[in-house]
Amino acid sequence: MQKAREHWSSHLGFILVAAGSAIGLGVLWKFPYVTGENGGGLFVLAYIACTLLIGIPVFIGELVIGRNAQRGAVGSFAHLSHNNTFWKSVGWLGVLASFLIMSYYSVLGGWGMNYILMSLSHFWQGKSIPEIRDAFDVLASSGDITLFWHFAFTALTVAVVLPGIRHGIEFWSRFMTSGLFIILVALMIYSLTLPGAAEGIKFFLYPDFSKLTASGILQALGLSFFTLSLGQGVMITYGSYMRPHDDIPRTGLIIGSSIILISLMVGLMTFPIIFSFNLPPQGGPGLVFKTLPVLFSQLPGSLLISTTFFVLFVFTALTSAIALVEVVVANFIDLFGWTRKKAALIVGSACFIFGIPSALSISGPLFANWSQIYGKTFFKTIDDLVTDWFLPVCGFLTALYIGWFWEKEKAYEEYASGTRLGFLFKPWMFFMKWIAPTAIFLIILSKSGVNVDALFK
Ligand code: TRP
Repeated sequence: MQKAREHWSSHLGFILVAAGSAIGLGVLWKFPYVTGENGGGLFVLAYIACTLLIGIPVFIGELVIGRNAQRGAVGSFAHLSHNNTFWKSVGWLGVLASFLIMSYYSVLGGWGMNYILMSLSHFWQGKSIPEIRDAFDVLASSGDITLFWHFAFTALTVAVVLPGIRHGIEFWSRFMTSGLFIILVALMIYSLTLPGAAEGIKFFLYPDFSKLTASGILQALGLSFFTLSLGQGVMITYGSYMRPHDDIPRTGLIIGSSIILISLMVGLMTFPIIFSFNLPPQGGPGLVFKTLPVLFSQLPGSLLISTTFFVLFVFTALTSAIALVEVVVANFIDLFGWTRKKAALIVGSACFIFGIPSALSISGPLFANWSQIYGKTFFKTIDDLVTDWFLPVCGFLTALYIGWFWEKEKAYEEYASGTRLGFLFKPWMFFMKWIAPTAIFLIILSKSGVNVDALFK
């Protein structure tokens, strides 16, 4: 017999927790830099389309599976498919993806912690733009400092996961998420009044269709899965804590649209700065650390604003990191019967160790020739591997499972319980069965070099 599962105490509580885990460095750090690298407007459009057409339906799908099976990712696939090894391994692939993300997520979170200290010590005051931008390169190429912060951030995450006090943090999440929202709105408004704002807005919003590439669309899809925390069974686990009368489709729509909204705000905050100060939009993974401090150095009261911003940055990173580690930990506890303490310590240490080459990827004492061999740093190799391949492939298989292998009646019952959006079941199923798998498949095919356009002629 399974133990009765704990359930969320209120629906709003659940939305906040799911949003807290989803909203993180995906929107604050990854979205602007990937958009910058992919030329702006068209990529943003592709990202929004992927989120609406594929992300949100798959998000709803994961919640439905989890609530029906009442288990974590691997357990749910195992239970529903009657222990089929293939589907079980889809669950494990998701767990592996979470682990890989956490390994470099903590490097970023650690840099954020370092930026809190730099803000507190008035670092930006009176510095020129090149000096501010160089500061990030100095940090990233200081292996020892980055390693120290990588350790600090991982340890902090494990400290929360270890005693299982994740729920205590929900309380803080409410303040912090609202705080983040307020500071983003304020910074966005300020950015929009900068002299070069119009050019930034044009770059960010104007879709130039001549730039359409399969690899850009695959990246948009991967990014959409990354920001919604999909393709790792996280939402399956969360769904298992939902109550029978909670409205899953509505939750999916609310969270999906909030992510789009916040992404747009972050873009409208970042690109005007870039164009006003003549910075390159292709700033790579350091973009957020190189652009915002430039703005902070110009603002009155910069100490307060920049410290607050980076505290919120670290906090949102932390709420996501907790969820990332928790997914892995929960599966080990469920399936191997480990104690929480053992699981958290082992997973935390493994994340730290596997993250070491990411932390040292720019300073270079480890895997010094990596970039020459793979064309990008270790950090970016893992990030791209997970975002462009693991998540879309896992999402594809999840959609495939729901659309083709799961009993329709079961899916309907679970989907429709507690919602007034039952009439959307048919279109949703259609998306799961046809649109999501076909789209993901085509994107992956064309990314692998197959000329997909020719198939339609
Ligand atoms: N969505 C998170 C973010 O935007 C990152 C993330 C990806 C995540 N997968 C996850 C968070 C799984 C928690 C659990 O930063």
